[in-house]
Amino acid sequence: MTKPQLLDPQTVNFSCDRIRSLFPALHEEPRLVFFDNGAGAQIPQGVFDAINDHLLHRNVQRGGRYARSMEVDDAITRARKSVAALINARDSNEIAFGMNATSFLRLLSLAIGRTLATRNEIVVTDLDHEANIATWLQLEREGARIVWWKMREDNNLHVEDLAPLLTSKTRLVACTVASHALGSIVDVAAVARLAHAAGAEVALDCVHYAPHALIDVQAFDCDYLVCSGYKIFGPHMGFMWGRLELLNVLPTFREDFIPDAPPGKIEAGTFIFENVAGFAAAIGYLESLGSSQRGEEENAAPASRRAALVRGMNSIREYEATLSFEMLEVLQSAGAIVYGVHDTARLAERVPTFCFRLPNVAPAIVTQTMSDHGVGIRDGHMYAPRLMKRLGASLETGVNRASLVHYNTLEEIHEFGKVLSDMVRGE
Ligand SMILES: Cc1ncc(COP(=O)(O)O)c(C=O)c1O
Repeated sequence: MTKPQLLDPQTVNFSCDRIRSLFPALHEEPRLVFFDNGAGAQIPQGVFDAINDHLLHRNVQRGGRYARSMEVDDAITRARKSVAALINARDSNEIAFGMNATSFLRLLSLAIGRTLATRNEIVVTDLDHEANIATWLQLEREGARIVWWKMREDNNLHVEDLAPLLTSKTRLVACTVASHALGSIVDVAAVARLAHAAGAEVALDCVHYAPHALIDVQAFDCDYLVCSGYKIFGPHMGFMWGRLELLNVLPTFREDFIPDAPPGKIEAGTFIFENVAGFAAAIGYLESLGSSQRGEEENAAPASRRAALVRGMNSIREYEATLSFEMLEVLQSAGAIVYGVHDTARLAERVPTFCFRLPNVAPAIVTQTMSDHGVGIRDGHMYAPRLMKRLGASLETGVNRASLVHYNTLEEIHEFGKVLSDMVRGE
């Protein structure tokens, strides 16, 4: 297979060395080829500095009348605006901060569960992380009927298969934007078109897609979306976005004296302010990738934060396609079974996350051998038991996953490939 010209790393305007220099963890000894980014990515120094700065200088409760407390309020307001730029939200009050994506999905499902009435059907998929399935299944107790949108034999969700599942009773479609296990991307704008035509809403799990490509809630035309900061080069925290008019009427838990308006009505209790400050810095880092590019048409500074983020995320996407190409070549030439999109002509349909198996080596042994050679990958069920079943893998042993992001390199892939092929040859 010849490499498409577009994917020649030399032609991709991306300075991986400069980027790696910003991430202290990538220079630690002993060296680690870090291919477990799907479980959480490393952070640039600027994120650490922002967390530190917050803790050292304004570690106080928000909402007070003294300067430090007002600084916390300002930091949270600025962070909401940063997230709004990252995901193209119309209004920063559509963004709520909290613990993680799972707890937001639970909050959302509890609220939706109180609105079922005659529309009581919830569509879930067998590709999703269990966080976006189990919480909806719980609504059966509230009278919900669960409708499964299943992958075809090619381990992809086909939007054509969703259409016949939607009826005048469909309340919501819950699906992922990109699979954390297989790396495949779902055409969520098409999902939203179908769901809205049926009068239903769409809740997206954007956790795995977020570090790899541009989020645009307006283009996705979704109704709710959840993300985790620690997958996007930030600390452990999460956020949820929802359409303002829907959040206004969402029946969430709140103490009586809290106004029934977003984001406060979604943020019961205190969240981790320093991590929100750190996440805002992570967005600043992604923005800097778009501001600092030099190219023919890019001499002018980006017109807005969003424009810088668009440029930064597009350059990540383009560079990551070179990583995906190389990973597929390396995995397939070692004789690995790659699940999901494995054709190098279809790189646009995936991110560089690879779920694979070696025919004669148990996943735990593959991971251990990789670890012995300084390569960090993962084995197990990937919190996706239903997907494992579809792949024919047992819950106990599961599969292997190598998940890359934009600070990974072709050289690292070749190191991984050498360990893999030595293992296959029994060396
Ligand atoms: C696709 C996907 N959804 C949801 C989650 C759960 O996210 P959190 O840990 O923020 O609850 C993960 C975590 O790995 C994930 O990859």
